[in-house]
Formats: sequence, C-alpha cells, structure tokens
Amino acid sequence: MDSTLSARTFARLVATALMVSVPRANGQTDAPPPRARVAAESAAGVKATTDASGETLRGAVKGRFLIGAALMSRQLNDPKLTDLVAQQFDCLTGENEFKPASLQPAPGRFNFAPADRIIDFAQRQNMRVVGHTLCWHNQSPAWMFRGADGKPLARDEGLRNLKGHIDAVVGHFKGKVIGWDVVNEAISDEGDEYLRNTPARRAIGDDYIIKAFEFAHVADPGAELYYNDYANEYAGKRAKTIRLIRELKSRGVRLDAVGMQCHLKLSDPDGPEQLDQAITAYAGEGVKVVISELDVDVLARGNRGADVAARERAGANPYPGDLPPDVAERQATYYRRVFEVVRKHAGVVTRVTLWGTHDGTSWLNNWPVRGRTNHALLWDRALQPKPALKAVLGVLAAP
Ligand code: G3I
Repeated sequence: MDSTLSARTFARLVATALMVSVPRANGQTDAPPPRARVAAESAAGVKATTDASGETLRGAVKGRFLIGAALMSRQLNDPKLTDLVAQQFDCLTGENEFKPASLQPAPGRFNFAPADRIIDFAQRQNMRVVGHTLCWHNQSPAWMFRGADGKPLARDEGLRNLKGHIDAVVGHFKGKVIGWDVVNEAISDEGDEYLRNTPARRAIGDDYIIKAFEFAHVADPGAELYYNDYANEYAGKRAKTIRLIRELKSRGVRLDAVGMQCHLKLSDPDGPEQLDQAITAYAGEGVKVVISELDVDVLARGNRGADVAARERAGANPYPGDLPPDVAERQATYYRRVFEVVRKHAGVVTRVTLWGTHDGTSWLNNWPVRGRTNHALLWDRALQPKPALKAVLGVLAAP
C-alpha cells in the first residue's frame, strides 16, 4: 500500500486543522485548538484507515458536530488503533473507566489513572472527552446506595454518597471533559412504569435524578449535562423522556442534551425513522440531542428475555469471518439513513459517538452472550474501512 500522503489528503488534513468552531449542546461554540500536529503525526497511517477518497470523519464533519468514539485505556497500547482514532475522531468517551465502579470502587478510594490516560491522549490529539457516567444502576459499587445487609441506605446517606462521588469525580475532571452523562438509563422499559427501580432511587427517592444534576452543576458549572438512555428513539421511552425533561426544567435544572445511545439493529428497519421523530420531539422541548453510543448490530436476535436467551444459547454466530458483502451493503445503507437524519437535524444534534472504534472492540461481540463475532462499526477487525464508512462520508460530503 502506498504510504505517501497525496496533496489532496494533506490539504484536507490541514483544512481540518484550521477548522474554526465546534458546536456545543448549549449552542455556544468553542474554538478548538489547532490540529496541525494531529495531521503531521497521523499522516503516515491515513491511507490504511480511510475511505478511498482520503477523507476522514474528523475532516468531513466540518465542525457541524463532534464525531466521537468510545474506548478503554488499554486500547491506547495499540499504535494502529491510536492512529485511526486520532485521524478519524475529535471526541472520546471512556467506555468503562469513568463509571462509578471504576472510579470509586470502595468508599473514598478513587482510581483515576485509567481515565486520566484517556484524557492525556485526547489532550495530546486535540480531542474532546465526554464523561460517562456519574449515576447508573450498572457498574456501580454496591456500597454507594446499599448497606451491608443489601437493604437501601437511608436517604441522607445515599445523598451523601451521591454528592461525594459527584463532587470528587466532576471536580477531578473539571475543565478536562466537555460534559457528563449525569444519569444513565433511569427510565423504565416496562409499560406505564416511569422510572427504573434502581438502588439510587430506592435509597434516595425519585428526586435522585434531580439531585445528581444539581450536584454536577455545582461541581463544574462549565460542564454540559446530559441525560443518557437507550431505546429512547421509540415511542414508549420517548414519552417518558419528555416527562423527565419537563420535570428537570420545571426544577430549574441544567440539562443541555438528551443522550440517545442508538444501539440500533439491522433487523429493525424503522430505527432511523424513529430517531428522526424523537429528535424532533426532544428539540421541541428545548434541548439538544447527542447520539452517544451508536452502533448497528448485524446479528439477528429477538427483542426480549427468553427469546434472546434461547436463540443465543443455540449459538447463532453466522459471520465468524468477514461480513458477507450483501450484509455489509445493507449495514452501509442503514448507517447512511442514520447520518441523513443527523444532517437533517443540523444544529440540534451536537455529537455522534460510535460505541467502539473497530468491529473487534465492540461490546456486541460479548452481548447478549460472550464470544460471538459481530460487525457493528465502521472499520473491520483489520482496521480496514467498511462500506458503512463510505456511506457515512458520502452523507457528510453532501452540501
Ligand atoms: O475488565 C474485565 C476483565 O478484567 C475481565 O477479565 C473480563 C472477563 O469478564 O471482564 C472485564 O470487564 C468487562 C468490561 O466490560 C471491560 O471489558 C465486563 O465483564 C463487561 O461486563 C463490561 O461490559 C461493558 C458494559 O457496558 C457493562 O454494562 C461494555 O464494555 C460497555 O461497552 C458497556 O457499555 C454500556 C454503556 O456504558 C451504557 N449503555 C449501554 C452500553 C452497552 O452495554
């Protein structure tokens, strides 16, 4: 493969370096630091990881929104991967290492090193970082909201732990992250039930969400604050999300954007249309939208409990090698539709983050069962661009 950089590609990288502004969810713009160093450092690997046009995602978004990826600090040991990340993305989310269980595994014992490593890398590459997440029922230490007997702590104690965590963590990353997924996945999946019955809610009460946002805002008044959830493109959770937005606003709480995870499935052709409607609905409530964990699962699965378990136990793993070209093309069409929706809502969608970097790093290789071969992202396991990348760049290139 030719390792020299074409004049056209170099010009694009320089243009990227000179990009003048990046929108934030609150409508302000920040001038990003110059990116010339990124271009220089990354030049050698551009051809290996980029679409045949030589364009990168980072260049193609042209400051209209941030384009991000999730990763774990140990992945920074892989120079091929860090080259790809530095070339293609301008924002990172820690996939696991900013979560409560990682940052404060025992009361008052903080472990910032892995998350700090992500921050250091991002700063060296002039990238932004998003903090994920301050309050979640998963990957959170039991002690935070439960006693030794497993029962909920008293409200005061739960609030003290929540505030202590948020003060320490948001304080530590103040000025280093652009915003926080303050509360993650608090809305119930069940019918008319509004909120999920989480340890934090059982200890503190329904207002634990409001409290978390208030604590976060006090700890870093400059940080954007997001409410993040999955399946909130669909009607059921959409209505509950609007209820939550209104409650937060009526309490005067800062809420910059709804995080729509967008773990989408090739088997659900309605996903982009639902996304379109949901963005319109959230924008109508006066908030921005960030697409916070985008991927497109290509493996068939049922929607719920027993159905998923039965099918996955049977070992369905149809693409253990490369993704067949026809499936790759269908996935490309799906990604194209998603980015057309993003483009349609310019100014509302302030960031799109892929949940992983290349197919080999995706959580979907280990969920709903461990060890399958999924192909959910824009680069394959050899870090080669997939048809989906070309489709996304095509949408971004259109005027
Ligand atoms: O780090 C350990 C490792 O030491 C151990 O050997 C290995 C074997 O089990 O496990 C490793 O931990 C895993 C961790 O990811 C890091 O790889 C956990 O088992 C595994 O459960 C964990 O999964 C993460 C999942 O959240 C947990 O709920 C995924 O990586 C992460 O992508 C996923 O991210 C979530 C978002 O935070 C919220 N939205 C949904 C999204 C997908 O589930």
